[in-house]
Amino acid sequence: MKVIVTVNGRPVAAEVADRTLLVHFVRDVANLTATNVGCDTTSCGACTVLLDGKSVKSCTVLAAQADGCEVTTVEGLADGTGEMHPVQAAFHAEHGLQCGFCTPGMVMAAVSMLAENPSPTEEEVRSALEGNLCRCTGYHNIVRAVLAAAPALRERRPA
Ligand code: FES
Ligand code: FES
Repeated sequence: MKVIVTVNGRPVAAEVADRTLLVHFVRDVANLTATNVGCDTTSCGACTVLLDGKSVKSCTVLAAQADGCEVTTVEGLADGTGEMHPVQAAFHAEHGLQCGFCTPGMVMAAVSMLAENPSPTEEEVRSALEGNLCRCTGYHNIVRAVLAAAPALRERRPA
């Protein structure tokens, strides 16, 4: 079937098999390979992207279900001027990553949660990210990064 998905603001059209997963569409059709496949079974969150602004595990969504939708991957966060998105900058500043495999999904889950809850508590951050697994960091710096990003993102919100 033919699908057209707007990925990071760019329409991507392709013939795909009915069973094609969104994560494979993003990686293999849109050629955006920062979104990782860690488990393929909805467990790890490495494949997290935004679908019409909400975070989803893209190994759980068919490309066909995203037809006509907007997808944002971690490559689409920075504004094109070389400035990192506040969540990316906070992960960098707070050492919120080690091997980096979980990081694109972790960042996208954080962006989604901060859009819904601009002033989260530590407990709320931990709860929101519990679907994203990290085998390296022990999570402390990730949580610190998300909390550090919150004020910067609040400043960017329209009054
Ligand atoms: S690859 Fe999608 S949740 Fe692990
Ligand atoms: S930084 Fe290695 S899995 Fe999270």
